[in-house]
Amino acid sequence: MVDIILGLQWGDEGKGKIADYLTPKYNVVARFQGGPNAGHSLDFEGKKFVLNTIPSGIFHKTTLNLIGNGVVIDPVRLREEIQRIVSECPDYKDRLLISQKAHLILPTHRILDAASEAAKGEGKIGSTLRGIGPTYKDKIGRSGIRVGDILGPDFLEKYRNAVNDHLGIIDFYGFTDFDLSKDELLFFDALEFLKTHQIINSEYFIHDCISQGKKILAEGAQGSMLDIEFGTYPYVTSSNTLAGGVCTGLGIAPKHVGKVFGIFKAYCTRVGSGPFPTELDNETGEYLRVKGHEYGATTGRKRRTGWIDLVALKYTCMLNGIDELIMMKSDILNGMEKIAAAIAYKINGVLSDQVPSNMCSAEIEPELVWFPGWGEDLNHTQGFEVMDERFRNYVLFIENYLGTKIRVISLGPERESTLVKG
Ligand code: IMO
Ligand code: MG
Repeated sequence: MVDIILGLQWGDEGKGKIADYLTPKYNVVARFQGGPNAGHSLDFEGKKFVLNTIPSGIFHKTTLNLIGNGVVIDPVRLREEIQRIVSECPDYKDRLLISQKAHLILPTHRILDAASEAAKGEGKIGSTLRGIGPTYKDKIGRSGIRVGDILGPDFLEKYRNAVNDHLGIIDFYGFTDFDLSKDELLFFDALEFLKTHQIINSEYFIHDCISQGKKILAEGAQGSMLDIEFGTYPYVTSSNTLAGGVCTGLGIAPKHVGKVFGIFKAYCTRVGSGPFPTELDNETGEYLRVKGHEYGATTGRKRRTGWIDLVALKYTCMLNGIDELIMMKSDILNGMEKIAAAIAYKINGVLSDQVPSNMCSAEIEPELVWFPGWGEDLNHTQGFEVMDERFRNYVLFIENYLGTKIRVISLGPERESTLVKG
């Protein structure tokens, strides 16, 4: 059976911490989409690590970790990532599997990302500049290069053809701020390193695991509101971040999907451009940013902050068929005088409880409900039922609005601060 853990907002919900927390229950953790645009933070023996491409189960000695076919891999970044973790998991090679069908991010994909964003000027997506969009564009355009290709005799020819195409476009953009020969040295060196890993036919591997009754956790990257189909298009990433993406991103049939866990923050953040109806571009927003350390794990950029958006959350619960919710970072709201949640959008003066398809062009004003804040110190050691009533009201309101159970509430970065609500 394949369970799924994914983000329900605009990314950065805390997927790394929770995937790591859930890992002991699973034999395999698998990434099914995205690439080094992701930044999944987790603690291992008191040290903080940020994973970009490697699944969050890597620190558990008995868990296998698969980078699935739906992922895009930058070998240079993957090598750097491995160098950061290798002292903690010297045996990582035995437990890291890479799909032959995962597409490669070439140096020119990264340059194309930068050139395209520069050409968009004010209208830029705010991409992480990791080459994600151009790589998926080539994949869909049937001209991508896959990890399995690096072992083939015609790899260099394929590579040169792709680079020539890319350089033509980069030239068309008039973009000159790059040093390809330097990037290529690193790239080819990293390819040799990549070749020393277990590059497999991963759809067969996953099917063998399923037929042996093993448990698999599919770990999403980015968030549902960044999905290429249903997110705030065009301010999205270039992959299917929703539960549906697991089938194509790993090669499994829908009947093998078990539980879908949805993870969200008690407030909301977004990094990069695009609509964010509950954004707080004021002192309260700055307060949340500083207290919640809302700076990008991958790029260090300031994250935009705002109140929880229940209209968008209900939409993403619906799209993913969420079974159980996990609420993160509730402690960041501790001690606030009052707290708001959006329960409807006012679009051109008309109230709606739906996310409009033209979210980018519509003038959206959130309809807020206010809650009295709870104290500085939330004691949860005796269980949810006896916690501060004001906090319980906030949680129960969200649960009720979404029609989905919140099973786990995270009240701080440490493991002991994770409350299973039941
Ligand atoms: P994790 O997995 C938050 C955002 C970028 C940009 C848009 C497109 O850590 O939650 P891309 O580089 O994918 O072409 O950028 O998507 N974005 C993320 N925001 N968390 C992420 O990943 C993100 N990955 C991409 O900021 O707005
Ligand atoms: Mg992140």
